[in-house]
Amino acid sequence: MSPDDLEVLYYGNPELRKVCAEVTTFDDELVGLAQEMERCMIAERGIGLAAPQVGRTVRMLLADAPGHGGSGVLCLVNPEIVESSREEDKYQEGCLSFPEIFADVKRPVRVRVRYQDLEGREHEVTDDALLARIIQHEIDHLQGVLFIDHLSTIKRRMLGKKLKELSRRASEQRAAARGG
Ligand code: CO
Repeated sequence: MSPDDLEVLYYGNPELRKVCAEVTTFDDELVGLAQEMERCMIAERGIGLAAPQVGRTVRMLLADAPGHGGSGVLCLVNPEIVESSREEDKYQEGCLSFPEIFADVKRPVRVRVRYQDLEGREHEVTDDALLARIIQHEIDHLQGVLFIDHLSTIKRRMLGKKLKELSRRASEQRAAARGG
């Protein structure tokens, strides 16, 4: 692993609970982070990744859903949901910070999202399929909210053992990172 390869932080790492800062500087460093995040997401076979998952607590996320211009991975800076449908549905979600854990999460079907690109230009995207799902999951990350927070107490308790094991791995991961 090269020194600038990003590592996905596991559940239990306090970075995942932080509220991320708005991006105000649109420079090469931001573009570099987006590129590194994309490499990381592809390597981990994810379809979405939020900056705090790689320890950068800024409001930026990637979403890889087919059918949006075919340009591949979408990068959203300072994203904000400006409208969501009253209609909700359940969909099985996973998360790179929770390897091997999947759960049905209920969310609005359709969202309209305002965001900036890597050059700071404003855009809007509306979706009622997988992209909407990914963006909502990733925007949660920017607030320190994780998909398990949407589950009932009973369901979360059923995952208790797995979550405890993940927290243990997160501690090891942090110790290794400190050790260099
Ligand atoms: Co996630």
